[in-house]
Amino acid sequence: MLVYPKLTDFIPAAELDGLLARAATISGLSLCCQGLGGEIVARSPGSMAEPNGNGVDLLHGKERLGRLTSTGGDSRAVVSEVLQWVADEIQERFRTRREIECLAEHITENYHNLECIFDVIQPLSSLFSLNVVENCQTVLVATSSLVHAERSWLLIAFEDKPELVSLHKTEEGDVLLDSTVLDDSRTGPWEHTFRTGEAINAARSSDIPCGVQLREDLGVTLPLLCLRLEGDRRPLGVLCFSGKAHADFFTSTEVKLTAAITAHIGTLMSNAKLQEDMHSLLLEAITVLSGVMETKDEYTHGHVERVTNYAASIAAHLGFTPEHVERLRIAALLHDLGKIGIPDRVLLKHGDLTEDEKAIMQSHAIAGPRILKHFKHLEPIIPWIQGHHERPDGQGYPLGLKGDAIPIEAQILSVADAFDAMTSNRPYRVAMSIDAAVRRLHDGAGTQFNERVVSAFLETEIFQNLKNGS
Ligand SMILES: [Fe+2]
Repeated sequence: MLVYPKLTDFIPAAELDGLLARAATISGLSLCCQGLGGEIVARSPGSMAEPNGNGVDLLHGKERLGRLTSTGGDSRAVVSEVLQWVADEIQERFRTRREIECLAEHITENYHNLECIFDVIQPLSSLFSLNVVENCQTVLVATSSLVHAERSWLLIAFEDKPELVSLHKTEEGDVLLDSTVLDDSRTGPWEHTFRTGEAINAARSSDIPCGVQLREDLGVTLPLLCLRLEGDRRPLGVLCFSGKAHADFFTSTEVKLTAAITAHIGTLMSNAKLQEDMHSLLLEAITVLSGVMETKDEYTHGHVERVTNYAASIAAHLGFTPEHVERLRIAALLHDLGKIGIPDRVLLKHGDLTEDEKAIMQSHAIAGPRILKHFKHLEPIIPWIQGHHERPDGQGYPLGLKGDAIPIEAQILSVADAFDAMTSNRPYRVAMSIDAAVRRLHDGAGTQFNERVVSAFLETEIFQNLKNGS
């Protein structure tokens, strides 16, 4: 039902009173202003003007706002002129106020929309690094609350897989993970939007594109909004919203906002893909680099890989984020890179090292970081590599740092490195048993090794499997 604006919604009654009083003083007429329902909203002082006096309608375009009436006055022409002048004045004020009000509403709505976009986009900006499913869950929850949908789906296409991974937010707010095969015979809304790129905005059955089934069996209801996610002009997935508690259509603003956010998510996803590709490339280059070390010393074969796995498991056990674990994994791959510059006569020597030779060997903790400082991307992990032979009691090298001055990541590398060195064969000794190595770790906890890291390592699944011989 349309609600017509009332005269006094835009012009206060006191202002109308003042206007009528001034006009009455000038003209000698009694003036009265009535609202749309005939109610008197203003009158000049002492006015007896009634609805049946001389009068003109107050109009806003074709809309009737009320009526202005007058009594008194000798000349019909003067009365008519005064009435028209006052009516014009009231109508002009009404028009101006209403335009200002509409503009304010428009600005408020736009501001609200911007706030909505910011609320959705802000948490998304840091997404799409490692855990795709978790990221998609955030996207789904944020966007479905934006359009007030009862149910929503986010379907993501992974490369080379003939299926869409589907996240479904139910009416109860649960997010379910499923997959749906991309089969040409399927004619559900998301298959249609994914294949053709055509958005679906359906309030009625007749709005659904020809040949597309609503898929009520999967809980899809009207109204329905389906938009394709794209990155680099490539289809990445589909965002789909269905059902609304308090309306039977998605508003044009909701559709516009969702389209804008969908485009943004598509860009984020393709950027993430690019970042992942670059990360893989970097990881491959680093693996090759760390492999160079192992070709120098055949007895250390597999050492880097094992240290990397131990360190990553400890970090995960200590609650590091996946991104943090990944960075530590890179540090572990590179922890002994500095040995590349150690002469073979020292690096491969079977007997005890002289003091000079020890100093040369220990220089690898500085040489590695010196090489890596040229890679800006690796800057944050350099202190971790440099500190992997430091000890909590300050007896380590190269700087003799103590306790918390040693980055926790370096202390993780230290435990992982020491455990693998103890349990691996060397040309000058056979591998220590796991029990003996654990005793060494316990003995060194608090002095040579960080106690918390030792405890965490012994609780990791990777260590438990080793211990149980599996
Ligand atoms: Fe080392």
